[in-house]
This record gives sequence, structure tokens and C-alpha cells, in this order.
Amino acid sequence: MNTIVTGLQWGDEGKGKIVDYLTEDADVVIRGQGGNNAGHTVIARGEKYVLHLLPSGILWDDKTNVIGNGVVLDPAGLVAEITRIEGQGIEITPDKLVISDRAHIVLPVHKELDAAREISLGNAKIGTTKRGIGPAYADKINRCGLRMADLANRAFAAERITRRVAEANEILARHELPTFEASAVIAEVQDAYERLRPHITNTIPVVHRAWRCGKKLLFEGAQGTLLDIDFGTYPFVTSSNTTSGGCCTGSGLPPTAVGRVIGVCKAYTTRVGSGPFPTGDEELSGYLHGLGREFGATTGRARGCGWLDTVLLRFACMVNGVTGLAVTNLDGLDESETLKICIAYDIDGERHELPPAERSAWDRATPVYEELPGWKSDTTGCKLHRDLPANARAYLDRLAALCDVPVAFVGVGPDRAQTLVVE
Ligand code: GDP
Ligand code: IMO
Ligand code: MG
Repeated sequence: MNTIVTGLQWGDEGKGKIVDYLTEDADVVIRGQGGNNAGHTVIARGEKYVLHLLPSGILWDDKTNVIGNGVVLDPAGLVAEITRIEGQGIEITPDKLVISDRAHIVLPVHKELDAAREISLGNAKIGTTKRGIGPAYADKINRCGLRMADLANRAFAAERITRRVAEANEILARHELPTFEASAVIAEVQDAYERLRPHITNTIPVVHRAWRCGKKLLFEGAQGTLLDIDFGTYPFVTSSNTTSGGCCTGSGLPPTAVGRVIGVCKAYTTRVGSGPFPTGDEELSGYLHGLGREFGATTGRARGCGWLDTVLLRFACMVNGVTGLAVTNLDGLDESETLKICIAYDIDGERHELPPAERSAWDRATPVYEELPGWKSDTTGCKLHRDLPANARAYLDRLAALCDVPVAFVGVGPDRAQTLVVE
């Protein structure tokens, strides 16, 4: 069955780990949106891999990995990532990695424009990863972006890049930020293109052929539902559709190609960057950071941590069409005496079971909690769902009931092997 793996919170739910786990039974792994703002950590056979643009299926032999048309791609960043992962002993051949010729390019100027915009927003900044994601998608939507296929025509690409650099330099100079030499940008992009060229192709017939032949497809979401440009906590979001629909528009495969949607969430909530976080909890953050957990894979920033928020999860299950939950990091709660689950928000005395659209309503949203007893024991060695302590199973059952979706997988540690299947 073809499967979408999508994040249900503010990113970093453990999508990479779940994709890596499910890749064993898949033939093709596809990224359809986002860029190297993503950071997916996978621990397999004791080795740690951090992936940004490469689909997490890259760690397996004999699987095809696709960077789809909906991704925004920093060519030099991808070359550096390929070199780093190859240095860890993973071979990346043109058969194993294919890159869409329709993917839009993140230019070095986009990264500086991202930084400039954050500076001009001051206290209202988004807290972006400064990977140029917003400006690159803005150019795409403004119909002035450059795509991978365009780099084959050097004269055309050079003319486009020169024009874009001149426009960007005006803005950067106003912010007293470093400006760019068009020739240096052209050289950086073309050098990376030459390295990537054997991988670049029209990926749409590639994925359609695989689908028609009955190969198993696995879609790897990046970011999470609350960072989705439409469904997230706008404007504190990323610039793509991170939800399941984005997998189709980002790959050229239709919704009829998809059989199941696995929604990944942590057993608690985390968020990095600015914006609302009703269940954020300093004590829980301090505790998890003290264990060395919850530091971002892309920027190294400490993630804010908080209690499980089923207002968000319920909504995320709806808009993604989640058929099964993958609840990761259950082991992070192993030592908690009592667990809180947010079941609704109180906004101005009214109970809300779905997230609000209006920006200021988030500031007035107070979580309504229910409490469950903790299990106070180490779950990291559990191999089967039935090995979990009764209170841990009760916590998962309550989560599933509040979202009206069954739990399919449970994570009790970062390693590939620490994934339990719920029969
Ligand atoms: P992604 O962006 O959704 O792929 O998630 P990240 O990789 O950015 O963040 C998830 C973090 O949790 C990573 O450090 C993973 O290694 C780790 N992780 C994933 N699942 C589990 C789990 O079940 N238990 C523990 N302890 N860590 C996990
Ligand atoms: P993965 O795939 C967590 C957040 C940033 C910021 C907002 C906008 O690892 O789950 P951007 O650079 O995209 O313009 O930043 O989105 N953000 C993420 N947070 N995980 C991610 O990816 C993220 N990608 C972007 O922190 O709040
Ligand atoms: Mg991440």
C-alpha cells in the first residue's frame, strides 16, 4: 500500500525515523515539499544520520529516492549533504536518487533575503531557519523562480540569476547586509548543477511507472501541520503545504495513488521558532533539555516543549486524512508522575475543540487539561506494544480516542529498532 508520512505538530515529530522504518517495505521514497529547512535524524545500526533534503529512504540499498517538483532545492547545500552522507558509507548513485527538473532553486540571495526579512520584522520575526525557503517559494509563486531544468541553458540561467541578484542587492544594501556578485552566484549554482546533473530528470514518469508496476511508494513529509501555509499558526508557519495534499502536488502523483496516511506526533509537543504554543511548559522543557533531548537538527536551537495538545492533533488528523498514528518519543515521559493532555482551549470563556484562525485568539487560548497517571518506568527496552506499562497503553488509548484515529506505531527510543507495531 502506498503511504504518506506526515507531521501532525510543529515539525520534528520523528518523521525521518518512521520513514526509515517503513522504507524496509517500500520501493520508492518521495519528498514533495520544503527544502533544507527540514532536519530528519535517523539512527540505524547505532549510526546517526542527519538528513535535510535527501529522503530518509536513502539509508537503504536498492530503493529509489525522489526529490519531487514541489521541493525548493539549494544546489550547493544538496551537494554538501550528499558528500557528508557518502562520507558515512552510504552510496548515492543516480539510480538511488532522482531529482525533479521542475524543482525550484534556492539561490544564495534567498538565504540573505530571508535573514533581512527577519531583521525587519524585529520582535514579530518568524524565527525561520534562514535557509531561504520563504523567498524561494515567493519567487515560485511570483512566477520569476528558476528551476533545475533551466540550468541546462547556461545563458538563460545566467541572465535570470544576474537580474535576481541585482534586485536582491538593493534590498540587502538597505539593511546593510552583505551583497552578492552575480558571477560568483552563477558559478556556485552551475558547479553544483554539474555535480547533480546525473540525478536530474523528469521524475513524474518515474513515479508513475513505479505506481503502475505495483511498486510501493512512501511519501516523506517535511515540517508539520501547524507549520502548513494554510492550516498552520499563520504567519508563524513555513511557506509550503506540509499536509498530505502537498505530497500529491509536490510529486505529480494523484490522490488515488495513496492508500494510507500515517500521522506522526510526539507523545508531547515541541516547537522551534516563534509563534503560539498554548501547552508550552518550562518545567517539561527544562527536564527534556536536561536529558540532552530536543535540540534542532538544522539550527541546533533548543525546541520549546509542552504537553500533548489534542486540539491540534484532532485538526491535523482531519486535514491530513490520517488513518493511523505513529506516536514517537513516548520514552520522554517515562519519569513523569502525572501527564497532562490538552483536550480543548478556553478562549474568552468559550470552549474550542479546534484551533482558531484569528491571530490574537491564540494569545488568549488557555488549555483545558485532563490528567492521567504516569508509568514511572523505562520503556526503551520494550519490543512489543503489550510490553508497555498499563498506564502507557492507557495514555496512548486516550490519545487515539481524542483524535478518533488508532495508534499504529509507537517510538520508545531514537533507534530504528525502537519502533513498536500496534497490531
Ligand atoms: P523529524 O524532523 O520529524 O524527522 O524529526 P527530528 O529528527 O527533527 O526530531 C525527532 C528527534 O527525536 C530526533 O532526534 C530523533 O532521533 C528522535 N526520536 C524519534 N523517535 C524517537 C523516540 O521514539 N524516542 C526517542 N528518545 N527519540 C526519538
Ligand atoms: P522538519 O522537517 C521544525 C519552522 C522554523 C520557523 C518556521 C519557518 O525537521 O520537521 P522556514 O525556515 O521554513 O521559513 O521557517 O518553520 N521550521 C521547522 N520547525 N521542524 C522543521 O522541519 C522545520 N522547518 C521549518 O523554525 O518557525
Ligand atoms: Mg526535524
